Amino acid sequence: MLVTREIPDAGLRLLEDFDVSVLHERPPERGELVEAVGGASGILSTATEKIDGEVMDAAGEGLKVVANMAVGYDNIDVGAAWERGVVVTNTPGVLDETTADVAFMLMLAAARRLGEGERLLRAGRWEWWGPKQLRGVDVWGKKLGIVGMGRIGLAVARRARGFGMEILYYNRSRREDAESELGARYLGLGELLGESDFVSIHTPLTPETRHLVGAEELERMKPEAVLVNSSRGPVVDEGSLAEALENGSIFAAGLDVYEEEPDVHPKLLELENVVLAPHIGSASVETRDRMATLAAENLRAVLRGEEPKTPVEL
Ligand code: DGY
Repeated sequence: MLVTREIPDAGLRLLEDFDVSVLHERPPERGELVEAVGGASGILSTATEKIDGEVMDAAGEGLKVVANMAVGYDNIDVGAAWERGVVVTNTPGVLDETTADVAFMLMLAAARRLGEGERLLRAGRWEWWGPKQLRGVDVWGKKLGIVGMGRIGLAVARRARGFGMEILYYNRSRREDAESELGARYLGLGELLGESDFVSIHTPLTPETRHLVGAEELERMKPEAVLVNSSRGPVVDEGSLAEALENGSIFAAGLDVYEEEPDVHPKLLELENVVLAPHIGSASVETRDRMATLAAENLRAVLRGEEPKTPVEL
């Protein structure tokens, strides 16, 4: 079997009974991946590898499972897997709280201008405390709009209740649990964008959610609003976001994900009112161990002819 990246030992230990080849820490080049996968019965991939029909065919007919070490599986052609009888699995449920921490961190950092302040200080340009210096916007008591009320969205909403925030949400379907537990109010996307002081995105990337937030949607937001994206970069049109931040049509943004990772829109790199994190939503020691473990358990189960814990449905 092929493990496409160096993953935590917690996962590798579970694969000791198998013939495992592990590539390296950096993402493999496409050609390297296609070559390395030859003869693999299973692939343990991460979100950076595109696993499509070509890769599956390069693995050959013995390929039984692609176990993604990520909750998102937009990097995998699930239809191509289904056609080839290959099981796909992901790692839901083990990274919700950790990713929600990062979404909340980005909300706070963007609202309170942490990145800008730190850059000022480190550059030796912080000369005095000032009554009008680095004034951000309050987070506590504001309205938070959650786009995509799945497990991670809910975990963010729970944190927000601790900050006395009102929760609005937009989702494919109503979430009675969020409404009764958190008093969350269901709105259409346009209404949510217009009413929210903070908007945090938690939808998977699908053809329907690509550029879900573009120029028109950004225009609906309040000038003092903050947008946070810790789901997948292409859900937001980065060019339009950069323009909205530059012309002040929203106050700030906090991003953990980008359209063309690891590249970031050049304008975003220049702007002070955006906090940029390098896709670290699930990057805690504990959570990466849990993700590696679940991915390895899924892979092992399929190769042993058992049901995987968290299969992806077509
Ligand atoms: C996920 O699990 O989808 C994270 O973004 C890491 O890839």
